[in-house]
Amino acid sequence: MQTKHTAGDATSPSSTKPSNQGDSSVPADASAVISTGGLEAMPTRRADLSTQCVHAGERRQKDSGSITTPIYTAATFTFESTDDLMRFVNGDEQREEYGRYGNPNERSVEAKIAALEKCEEAIVYGSGMSAIVGLLMTKLSAGDEIVFFDQCYHRSREFCAKHLSRFGVVTRQVTTGDYDAMEAAINRNTKMLVSESPTNPHLSVIDLEKFAAVGKANEVETLIDATLATPYNMNPTEYGIDYVLHSATKYLGGHNDLLAGVICGRSEQLEAVRSMRGILGNISSPHNLYLLERGLKTFELRMQRQNENGLRIAEFLESHPRVERVYYPGLKSHPTHAIAAAQMRGFGGLITFTIRDADWKQTANVVDAARIPRIAPSLGGVESLIEQPLVMSYFHCTPEDRVRFGIADNMIRMSCGIENGDDLIADLEQALSV
Ligand SMILES: Cc1ncc(COP(=O)(O)O)c(C=O)c1O
Repeated sequence: MQTKHTAGDATSPSSTKPSNQGDSSVPADASAVISTGGLEAMPTRRADLSTQCVHAGERRQKDSGSITTPIYTAATFTFESTDDLMRFVNGDEQREEYGRYGNPNERSVEAKIAALEKCEEAIVYGSGMSAIVGLLMTKLSAGDEIVFFDQCYHRSREFCAKHLSRFGVVTRQVTTGDYDAMEAAINRNTKMLVSESPTNPHLSVIDLEKFAAVGKANEVETLIDATLATPYNMNPTEYGIDYVLHSATKYLGGHNDLLAGVICGRSEQLEAVRSMRGILGNISSPHNLYLLERGLKTFELRMQRQNENGLRIAEFLESHPRVERVYYPGLKSHPTHAIAAAQMRGFGGLITFTIRDADWKQTANVVDAARIPRIAPSLGGVESLIEQPLVMSYFHCTPEDRVRFGIADNMIRMSCGIENGDDLIADLEQALSV
């Protein structure tokens, strides 16, 4: 297990500088050279996050001297001769064979994400949902059980409740953050504990050390969906979590122009997961993977601005008389702030808030009055997005379910992009005055 990072004064924007910088005294070992692809030019220093974003995973000298990874459109990869094929099937040569099993664009983006997430391995999928489906379909069999913290992405919950159940897998849900209830829900059939951190849209942060400890004490694997945190703000495996999931559609891609997902973890635990992906074929296209690799080059810079905008806007909203409540883990008022401050290097760009004494229509008027954020689902991209969960993701739920999921009529969720923070605040100020 690697050294755990802690945030400094976690409520000040200047303190959101990550502590995941290189340790100049640590020589790069062989595995670091592989996972940082090409960074062997720096033999005495482990690369900082920003350097890894730009270079990790990529071959230093690419085809034709191209500085960017070429897009390999090939569906299949040729062998020079049967001898050449025999070297591959006997495991003497690592190379590509058929597009569903792997592609050079996938290899380089997977190695880059593994380096950022400080994991042995990352497996990329066509979307975040296909990543979670791929993992659970590999790891669970009829009669197995999983336990979820209940504030989970509603489609993940739906997959487990409606679909895994058809294959005889039992899903149990317990209140988010209730570690005793989670432990009590475990029995000898339980195979996995699942949570997001922070959760969406309530931004609850899970104590990863406690969560991992419950898993380890009961010999049950743990999965954290860290989409909202990103590897800039938190590396769950440092706390003993087995699998880290990201919807790379969000901050990793970062430009609202691609769908992708990724599972990170230890190679041994992921071997069967990769093999299952080769069967299911829930892969990403080479063009998409190129976009993801390109987006990751600026990941650190984007996260710095999105963390900064998130905290500034959350503080502005909290002090505004028309705002009833703000959910943002960087605010002292958030019930899980202390965990977030100890565990995260920054708090991300997603904020949920409620409008005081407003019905759904008055709340919609605030959304409609905002000029910079665009009305759309999703989060984490360079463009700020705004939505009212009642009429977006939760519109088709029953009123009882909305109450159960904590979705209020007067709730707004905003994903801060990389625009100027003063501009965003001025825009929200005028939107709140309608
Ligand atoms: C926390 C979280 N996990 C997973 C997903 C699913 O990701 P995707 O849309 O890339 O399938 C989402 C999508 O909104 C999400 O918010």
